[in-house]
Amino acid sequence: FDAVDVIRIKRDGGAVPEAELRWMVDAYTRGYVADAQMAAFAMATLLNGMQRDEIRVMTDAMIASGERMSFTGLGKPTVDKHSTGGVGDKITLPLAPLVASFGVAVPQLSGRGLGHTGGTLDKLESIPGWRAALSNAEMTAQLRDVGAVICAAGSGLAPADKKLYALRDVTGTVEAIPLIASSIMSKKIAEGTDSLVLDVKFGSGAFMRDVDRARELARTMVALGTDSGVATTALLTNMDTPLGRAIGNANEVRESVEVLAGGGPADVVELTIALAREMLALAGQRDADVEAALADGRAMDSWRAMILAQGGDPDAELPAPRETHTVTAPRAGIVTRMEALPFGIAAWRLGAGRARAEDPVIHAAGIDLHVKPGDSVASGAPLFTLSAQDAARFPRALDALENAWEIGEAEVSRTPLVLERIT
Ligand code: URA
Repeated sequence: FDAVDVIRIKRDGGAVPEAELRWMVDAYTRGYVADAQMAAFAMATLLNGMQRDEIRVMTDAMIASGERMSFTGLGKPTVDKHSTGGVGDKITLPLAPLVASFGVAVPQLSGRGLGHTGGTLDKLESIPGWRAALSNAEMTAQLRDVGAVICAAGSGLAPADKKLYALRDVTGTVEAIPLIASSIMSKKIAEGTDSLVLDVKFGSGAFMRDVDRARELARTMVALGTDSGVATTALLTNMDTPLGRAIGNANEVRESVEVLAGGGPADVVELTIALAREMLALAGQRDADVEAALADGRAMDSWRAMILAQGGDPDAELPAPRETHTVTAPRAGIVTRMEALPFGIAAWRLGAGRARAEDPVIHAAGIDLHVKPGDSVASGAPLFTLSAQDAARFPRALDALENAWEIGEAEVSRTPLVLERIT
């Protein structure tokens, strides 16, 4: 086959035949198709889309580029969750041990953050001693003994996606639904989970701002999972405002532990419970009493065992910031708006995220919200506190927050946190 022919088919709005598409992905991974050619193909796909069958073939070809894991020997069902990402989204931390406390295995392969999005592994690395890298044998043993594992995806999983994603990142082609869906689902299917729940975000802090595009992405991914024999459902959830009160790393771990102790912010608890119900239903436990496991300490026991198994000390002090700066209310009123994206960018500028893949993150950096939209405040009341190791970071973070929040007279109506369930 010839890469130029494949590019022309997609450029002219056609469907690429299966053999050609498989060849294109394989040849690109091996270096026979040039970056320039794959970039042209990605752009043509962004502009002209793909049919369901093409997306399935694309996904399959990316799975075939690497290893496939299997947990069939565990003797218990496996169920995973994937979130398209948002500001303050620490849900994996309480969710994985909560679901595992029902005897289900949760193999949660996670990533690190880039740009304003935090990575689950970065957050957990706030815990002294905790390590993200596990061998496949260690992962399997932990799934058997503890049930929950949150660890780094090995480099052998869908290497085609790794190469293609880096190319999309620098060619303005990340936002193509067929490419996003095949990227995410190739990794999840290769991981070998029996079932999967997708948390697809929409709103100003989400990767897909528009709810209709988020719904299309969710439907595409659910279809891909189902076609591949992975029982998949999705929740469409709102990301206009940060999730919970903590945005950062160590502070997000602290908030997750509050949820596991039966407390925590209402929105984090609501989403954790909604996703846990979905996951347990797919694992055959439709009537699981999820709230009880949070209230009676079973989820916390499972968290402690998970952290210990990966070398972490669940009782250790988490890193504390050297400098803080609190912003207060200029007048009394009701908080009408706290916008996710600027808060994410501000936390990033404080050092909670990284600009380049090789940068470190600062675990103590971030933002703690003292109020959420809908809350009444008195004049002078604290709104949020910035944390950093160096006060020189505050001005640029405050710049990002310039128009990010508002105090008004009346409460504004809000979209529900969980908007829709897609099956
Ligand atoms: N996350 C992924 O893993 N892939 C994408 O294409 C987008 C988000």
